[in-house]
Amino acid sequence: MILNIICNRDTENLDDLIKVLIISEKGEKFHLKFIGEKVIKNPSGLEYVTILADKIKNVLLVDLRDLDKEDLERLRNTGAEITRSLKKRGASKVLFGKEIFELFSVDSSRAFIEGLLLGGYEFNRYKSHVRDVKLDIYLKGEEKLEKLVAEAKTLTEATFISRDLVNTPANILYPETLAKKVYELGKEAGFSVEIYEKKVIESFGMKAFLSVAKGSEKLPRLIVMRYIGDPNSKEILGFVGKGITYDSGGYSLKRAQSMVNMKNDMGGAASVIGAMVAISKSKIKRNVIAVVAACENMISQDSYKPGDIIETMAGKTIEVLNTDCEGRLTLADALNYIIENEGVDKVITIATLTGGAMNMFGEIATPVISNNESFYKELKMSSILAGEKIWRMPTYPEFREMNLGEIADLKNVSGKAGGFITAGLFVGEFAKEIPWCHLDIAGTVMSHETKGYKKKGASGVGTKTLFYLAK
Ligand code: BES
Ligand code: ZN
Ligand code: ZN
Repeated sequence: MILNIICNRDTENLDDLIKVLIISEKGEKFHLKFIGEKVIKNPSGLEYVTILADKIKNVLLVDLRDLDKEDLERLRNTGAEITRSLKKRGASKVLFGKEIFELFSVDSSRAFIEGLLLGGYEFNRYKSHVRDVKLDIYLKGEEKLEKLVAEAKTLTEATFISRDLVNTPANILYPETLAKKVYELGKEAGFSVEIYEKKVIESFGMKAFLSVAKGSEKLPRLIVMRYIGDPNSKEILGFVGKGITYDSGGYSLKRAQSMVNMKNDMGGAASVIGAMVAISKSKIKRNVIAVVAACENMISQDSYKPGDIIETMAGKTIEVLNTDCEGRLTLADALNYIIENEGVDKVITIATLTGGAMNMFGEIATPVISNNESFYKELKMSSILAGEKIWRMPTYPEFREMNLGEIADLKNVSGKAGGFITAGLFVGEFAKEIPWCHLDIAGTVMSHETKGYKKKGASGVGTKTLFYLAK
């Protein structure tokens, strides 16, 4: 679907309009003009707003009376449902009058526009017979509306980049092609991208990362994105995204069913890449560096094996008890790299790290581990603006002790209890006491149905939260 939002254009000359009405809480009917196929036959069963169709006058009524205008999530969902409904009805052009935005605050308007845009997401580039439908949404409002539309567009495009990356299968998206894609995105959005190949990664001493990568013919890449939005400041915010472009589990092989979605094991990488695009396009006054250690976790003669002891860039040693706990190994080195070699002051790790996170909160919320109260608060505020739910988990010392190895410093799997906490704390062993938050998005990376602004498939989670954190 090609969806355009066009602001404040003179629409006097547009003819053949069908009216679409929005009912405010006072019962006033505001006109939306709806251009396109004239016949609106069936009342729609939308969940977030009531949309009624008047058969005689070809009028679409959107009843906003029960809608809490400050509930940003609801507004995003409403916007998306309206877009989807317009698409279903074959609309090609629709005009929202300025009365609608007079009902909303700035944040509400932005959320509603974001929803309208998010409702247009589709991933059908691998379908051979799909006709792209086109919908132009004209918005009329005060001048500040244009700024809101621009902001919503940047964020939505970044979310779509993240969704596309996760939805793209592993035979097409692997470390080399991911790195190329990031390079192109950086060129377009205005951040620099450096791509390190195996020899350089070896010279950095990233042995844990390379141990995971060993099993695949597809060679690893270390992708470093740098955005300097405040050259006068020495402070740098760091993002590390898990970039396993496919996770078979390795010799600790996954079951067939658990493997199906493992192209999404680079969801953390997709979030940080999307965030870098949005940050850079919005020219945020902040220095941000993002790192992705991209590789595949596969089986071959050369794979690392259960029982192996491996070294890390930081010098700590790890007993590999399960080759399917590969994410914490690549993250350990990527985190050490971003702190030691890039000099970040605060850092986020974001990863599809454990099935446990999925069992805990499903696709509803992302569990977070942090070593710093005030940094967590910043992240929490950002997540609220983004409409992405996060919740901080306890980090009792008993959990940390569970990660200690028998014959090496650490072990990469530590029993059943609090699997996503111990996994997070394992990564935290490499945070060197700088403020750090870790998001386990194994549950939230995918949506299982199309509903509101979510589309079945990748959710793009994390991109917006990280954008607001930088902002
Ligand atoms: N990539 C998986 C985690 C995952 C599971 C992501 C489901 C998305 C959806 C991770 O590498 C993994 O395999 N973790 C294991 C660890 C276990 C063997 C201790 C898990 O959580 O099942
Ligand atoms: Zn795994
Ligand atoms: Zn994994």
